[in-house]
Amino acid sequence: MTSPEFYANARAYDIAFSDRDFVDECNFLEWCLQAHGRITRASLSFLELASGPARHAREFARRGWRAVALDLSPDMLDYACEGARRDGVFLETVVADMADFTLDRPVALAANMMESLSHLVTNEQVVSHLRSVSRSLLPGGVFVIEMAHPSTIWRDSLPNAWLSRSTDTPYFAGEPYTEVDVLFGAADDPYDWITQQWLVTARLTIREASRPERVVEHRHPHRWYQAQELKALIDLSGAFSEVRWYGDMLIPPPPLDNDSERMMIVLTK
Ligand SMILES: C[S@@+](CC[C@H](N)C(=O)[O-])C[C@H]1O[C@@H](n2cnc3c(N)ncnc32)[C@H](O)[C@@H]1O
Repeated sequence: MTSPEFYANARAYDIAFSDRDFVDECNFLEWCLQAHGRITRASLSFLELASGPARHAREFARRGWRAVALDLSPDMLDYACEGARRDGVFLETVVADMADFTLDRPVALAANMMESLSHLVTNEQVVSHLRSVSRSLLPGGVFVIEMAHPSTIWRDSLPNAWLSRSTDTPYFAGEPYTEVDVLFGAADDPYDWITQQWLVTARLTIREASRPERVVEHRHPHRWYQAQELKALIDLSGAFSEVRWYGDMLIPPPPLDNDSERMMIVLTK
């Protein structure tokens, strides 16, 4: 059973990482499928990997697609389902490790957004992930990966800290206004030059009306990938027939270059 304390943390997490335009991001994902996929409208379906609160999957559900959210955390998926119910849409959820999974029914479009691939820290995990996603796609389906631009990989702007506030109406009945101080990466986080992994400090300092301030902190390994590393791993997986590299989520997107905002990889099965 999920504790109310966890819901408070999942909501804080959602507030901390949701200052983005999910409608625009989903428009881009839809464009990727139209431009690079070979799928009929009848099979429109979407899988969000490492979904967290599943805001992309919920947006596709609102568009009438079959929408699936996959995450390691059952608590995070409970929170995503609560949001879907509030939106009046249906969300399928799968508790699984994205490094190795199989869906019951394949989808047309899959996405791994906001650098969540950095949770997979070995070459073997990434290759297995690419094969798992490919297995879960219809022929002609498309997989989109959003990663940090390679120029930011050494994270010389640490500490990475910002303040987020709840802007929506309270998520759960009676839930008060929330402010979250976020730290994602401290200046003294260790980096291992051999495994190429960071041990990243993530801290949420949660302030809500009429409750004492709470601090949730943990350290997790992350690995951010260079473009050529990813290219080699994609080739090694043998799981996709076409690969495109873009530098942003505009429609149409610019090619990836040295000045791009981010690294968007679009793979066609
Ligand atoms: C950055 S958040 C996800 C954000 C979401 N993709 C978005 O764009 O808003 C990272 C999520 O990855 C999940 N996660 C971490 N490792 C995972 C794994 N090996 N398999 C599946 N989910 C994982 C965590 O539980 C967490 O919910």
